[in-house]
Amino acid sequence: MYAFFGHLYDIFQSQHNLNVRSICGLVVMPVVLLTLLHRRLPHDPIESILTSLLPRRISRLRTPRPNARRIGLGGPLKMAETPQTAPAVKPANPNFSSGPCSKRPGWTIDVLAGALTGRSHRAKPAKARIQEAIELTRTLLEVPADYRIGIVPASDTGAVEMFLWSALGARGVDMLAWESFGAGWVTDVQKQLKLDDVRVLEAPYGELPDLNQVDFNRDVVFTWNGTTSGVRVPNADWIPADREGLTICDATSAAFAQKLDFSKLDVVTFSWQKALGGEAAHGILILSPRAVERLESYKPDRPLPKIFRMTKGGKLIEGIFKAETINTVSMLCIEDAIDAMKWGVEIGGLQAMQARADANFKVLADWVEKTDWVAFLAKNADQRSNTSVCLSIVDPAITALDADAQAAFAKAVVARLDKLGVAYDFGSYKDAPAGLRIWAGSTVEADDLAKLTPWLDWAFAEEKAALKAAA
Ligand SMILES: Cc1ncc(COP(=O)(O)O)c(C=O)c1O
Repeated sequence: MYAFFGHLYDIFQSQHNLNVRSICGLVVMPVVLLTLLHRRLPHDPIESILTSLLPRRISRLRTPRPNARRIGLGGPLKMAETPQTAPAVKPANPNFSSGPCSKRPGWTIDVLAGALTGRSHRAKPAKARIQEAIELTRTLLEVPADYRIGIVPASDTGAVEMFLWSALGARGVDMLAWESFGAGWVTDVQKQLKLDDVRVLEAPYGELPDLNQVDFNRDVVFTWNGTTSGVRVPNADWIPADREGLTICDATSAAFAQKLDFSKLDVVTFSWQKALGGEAAHGILILSPRAVERLESYKPDRPLPKIFRMTKGGKLIEGIFKAETINTVSMLCIEDAIDAMKWGVEIGGLQAMQARADANFKVLADWVEKTDWVAFLAKNADQRSNTSVCLSIVDPAITALDADAQAAFAKAVVARLDKLGVAYDFGSYKDAPAGLRIWAGSTVEADDLAKLTPWLDWAFAEEKAALKAAA
């Protein structure tokens, strides 16, 4: 403020050649008047003048800030309402989608320059590239040597469904579902495959079903990390090593970010578009020796399309797991996956990738801890995903709204930051409770998440003010 008035003094003195007394009259009198007014008026006129001079946009909502002090002359300094200003710095990378997820740090389209485009995927060098992707998967994910790894059609969904269609029905099955993707596999098994002996163990968004109820004499289908609720199984301790049934695990948003215990998993599926920041289109199907044994010993009485068929004459088609893919793959996608996995190896392998996701999650968790308008959808701390972090807006003014209005509010927060190029695609999944879903896998930088959180506070405050103004 002193600088402001000093500047005025210089201008007036140079341009109008005024003396000190007239300057005092011009400058001091209005200040005295404003000060007197300031004590009588409910709003702070000096603050209004100063804030209107600020270059950045000021919220209509005056959110109290812990260190805020009233801007005024005289009287005791009070904690008060300070306008919410937009943060100065945006995340360097605004991509926070939960699939396809952010590319790895440093990625450019140039990494695809060596892709074997325009060549047959059956050509020797193309098969070598596909095999390299398989071997990198084994190295990086620490997949046991006797497990098969195949690149299959139709992304993660293709990988899950080809096993469900090929192998379920040999014994009863327990289906675990606590969010929409798990629920999708239940629909497959009950309504499409129409299997007789199906038990469904469900939990609402934010929770896990009672894992103690699972019967491992049966086959078990579950999603390791529920991408749309941000709830994951904390470990594989609930799965016995000596089980009769097969465990079939959709690990698409867990692989490369959470510890998958392969000794407890017979079938693991994922797609590159999640924690690797790769491209969609192809799925990865990993089979334990027991899963292969099932495929070779059980022939379900139902038609299987060509892209689901993994056996011929009762034997596994080994070629599928040795770069001879069922149908044509994209060499661009293969190249991109190789690049992502090489990056994973370079930064220190699986542990380093998991550590990055954990550190990213911590940035968000620390912010949630000190922010009263937001809360985790996942109730239990040990079940919270370190990749798809799902958050609910719990401010009483918002929770008082009906469900549609709450959803519209969350969407407006997302849209506001999207429009400014601050953050993209971080709204909750269409079938999940309204809120935010922020990807925190290892391809995201912790620093970008740290830069995002003040923007979230700002966007929330702006939208809440807009809501109030519209009421
Ligand atoms: C847990 C889970 N399963 C399956 C899918 C479907 O994956 P894709 O689109 O790669 O088939 C997703 C995608 O978000 C997912 O999160």
